[in-house]
Amino acid sequence: MTDRSLLILPGDGIGPEVMAEVRKVINWFGTARGITFEVSEDLVGGAAYDAHGTPLTDETMEKAQSVDAVLLGAVGGPAYDDLDFSVKPERGLLRLRKEMDLYANLRPAQCFDALADFSSLKREIVSGLDIMILRELTSGVYFGEPRGIHMEGNERVGINTQRYTEGEIARAARSAFELARRRNNKVCSMEKANVMESGILWRDVVNEIHAAEYGDVELSHMYADNGAMQLVRAPKQFDVILTDNLFGDILSDCAAMLTGSLGMLPSASLGAPMENGRPKAMYEPVHGSAPDITGKGLANPIACILSFAMALRYSFDLGDEATLLERAVESVLADGARTADLMGPEGGTPMSTTEMGDAIVAKLAA
Ligand code: NAD
Ligand code: IPM
Ligand code: MN
Repeated sequence: MTDRSLLILPGDGIGPEVMAEVRKVINWFGTARGITFEVSEDLVGGAAYDAHGTPLTDETMEKAQSVDAVLLGAVGGPAYDDLDFSVKPERGLLRLRKEMDLYANLRPAQCFDALADFSSLKREIVSGLDIMILRELTSGVYFGEPRGIHMEGNERVGINTQRYTEGEIARAARSAFELARRRNNKVCSMEKANVMESGILWRDVVNEIHAAEYGDVELSHMYADNGAMQLVRAPKQFDVILTDNLFGDILSDCAAMLTGSLGMLPSASLGAPMENGRPKAMYEPVHGSAPDITGKGLANPIACILSFAMALRYSFDLGDEATLLERAVESVLADGARTADLMGPEGGTPMSTTEMGDAIVAKLAA
């Protein structure tokens, strides 16, 4: 028996395709290293809606609460775009994040040397890049009340509310400062304190936490619009970027292109430490269900495989194994392995999703 429990939620679109490659990696750790996981699998998103009429059943929610880590593929797709808002696939993912209280979303963007020419930016701007976006994940405009669409006079009004408590800002800030201490000791906090009261509070609280607990970490602030510009102008100026739920969503997709492809970016969503010292956790690629390439064998499985590497590190105290897996990915890329999203302007024949997964497993075994 093992005490490492993992709930796999492949989801929709390319989710199941990339998850199949992660399964190979999990199996390799079991057979080659004796590192085994008690893996269960369930439905989320459109797949859960098709089977149960809801994007996340209470049973799946309970399972997610009871395992050491959840690994999610992706949710959503055009087949579900016209569903009632309350049962859209994305609601399933948001419910998992909210009810597990996964407030700290770590979105690392690293540019592997072999891919420095695949970014839409010049090699010298991105080569060696290693930044971490800490996105607050359980509050802000994604969850604030009031919200909804209602009639005002004879026209419809759509409402969402950006709302942050000091406690929510403080815990996200602490996560960012802690991460920075294990990296290059710099945090840049991004909001719009020039136009939003929630941004003013955000900046105040970050300053207070910094002064009281993290004076050793270098802290700067930037308006998020300038931050987006700076991310593409000179991304290597950053170490940890601390930001809210919506800005973090946008800035992390932007950071993805610095690494060569959205198909490269993993993430970890962590809550407060539990009694066993580990955080509640869900791991997922930053990308979505990619309906445009679903079923064609074109998806890059690396974001999902690197998300599993983050699970090894943050949920299972298997830092060496996480590094081994990250090195295997780096090494296959150095060998020239490329899925279609990583083809440069010069073209060539891309590998399929399966071939990339196999190459990574072969490298692990080498
Ligand atoms: P997307 O991330 O699915 O795709 C954006 C572009 O990137 C597409 O051209 C796609 O082909 C490409 N891409 C994404 N992942 C890739 C991969 N692994 N390999 C190669 N190419 C990849 O974003 P979208 O098209 O805006 O959204 C599609 C659906 O996914 C929507 O329903 C959206 O809500 C959902 N979505 C889900 C998540 C999630 O589950 N975490 C994240 C983002 C979007
Ligand atoms: C992400 C996605 C999600 C988000 C959606 C699918 C709910 O874009 O994880 O980046 O907006 O957070
Ligand atoms: Mn997103």
